[in-house]
Amino acid sequence: MDQGAYQIRLSDKGEGGENKPVNSKITLSVIKADVGGFVGHSSVHPALMARAKESLSRADKEQLLVDYHVSSVGDDINLIMTHRHGVDNPEIHQLAWETFKDCTDVARELKLYGAGQDLLSDAFSGNVRGLGPGVAEMEFTERASEPVVIFMADKTEPGAWNYPLFKMFGDPFNTIGLVIDPKMHQGFKFEVHDLIDHKKVVFSLPEELYDLLVFIGAPGHYCVKGIYSKTTGEIAAVSSTQRLNLMAGRYVGKDDPVMIVRCQSGLPAVGEVLEPFANPHLVSGWMRGSHTGPLMPVGRAQSTPTRFDGPPRVVALGFQLANGKLVGPQDFFADVAFDRARAKANEIADYIRHLGPFEPHRLHLEEMEYTTLPDVMKRLTDRFQDIGD
Ligand code: 13P
Ligand code: 13P
Ligand code: MG
Ligand code: MG
Repeated sequence: MDQGAYQIRLSDKGEGGENKPVNSKITLSVIKADVGGFVGHSSVHPALMARAKESLSRADKEQLLVDYHVSSVGDDINLIMTHRHGVDNPEIHQLAWETFKDCTDVARELKLYGAGQDLLSDAFSGNVRGLGPGVAEMEFTERASEPVVIFMADKTEPGAWNYPLFKMFGDPFNTIGLVIDPKMHQGFKFEVHDLIDHKKVVFSLPEELYDLLVFIGAPGHYCVKGIYSKTTGEIAAVSSTQRLNLMAGRYVGKDDPVMIVRCQSGLPAVGEVLEPFANPHLVSGWMRGSHTGPLMPVGRAQSTPTRFDGPPRVVALGFQLANGKLVGPQDFFADVAFDRARAKANEIADYIRHLGPFEPHRLHLEEMEYTTLPDVMKRLTDRFQDIGD
């Protein structure tokens, strides 16, 4: 496409009607939080959704945003916003923070469960990272056609994206584009974060595939944060990575992550991006954030965890961006093609639930979000005797 024509289309008219240059890049920000469940930890009350929409529509009118869409999965509110202010922008983060604060007021009035759960501090200081809400943001030049998929999960942790991201961008048995699309054949770079030691490292695929898997096969410790095309250098995917439990030093709920994936034209096709979810993988989360279970792909109407507060859910919303406008959503997992994945997830749930408090259904001691172990241990300390040699 003619680059010049593209630039003119993206610029705003100034007051005198002249073309005023604007930041031609668009930023897509998805910021989410659980500020109170209806009922228990199962869903978001409609009054909270209405309050969130009201808050973002005010910002839209003030032209802070280009567009927005408010969504939810389980008990988590997801603010999907486009703007021209770049990632980590204080005004955008403040908008999200204040929106969640407003929603918390409503949650308190209705005495919803865990009102304000994810807002760990009263003092907002320019960025919601580290304060509780989950954040996935990317800035890019909008292509001639820009299909994106926003993934939103409940009752699990950010590492839940490791497996599907690897399938989408690293596995030719999932993504045939890696084999037959000349614009994908070089592969992708994976930025991996160590969530415990706060370090990051970049792997280049396919040549470092085995090295990558050593780390991301441990999703409670290493997390794929972002993916970049080796052909164009463009950002292709980004996930939210904060681990609430470690940040807060106490149990405040699983992180219930979000992820943005750009598709097509040198990136995986939409169908390649959805494909990994056809076979529900096991993730950490579920009841009390302390169990392993299958990640069930669902449409929004089915995104209310029930059985044992689950099984964990994932929703995929598709949008075409048009000069930053969010054209959509397409509720991908509502499709019948994912019926069998849901049935399989239910079958896995039946099986693994039988283990009750035994690992690997219950998470390893150090992975559990809360535990009575220290108390029980203290009470029984005197009863433990040396076994001897
Ligand atoms: P693009 O090369 O336009 O992304 O199309 C791939 C395709 O045909 C999807 O199935
Ligand atoms: P959420 O993290 O979705 O609030 O769930 C917490 C929980 O304990 C579910 O049993
Ligand atoms: Mg909750
Ligand atoms: Mg939740």
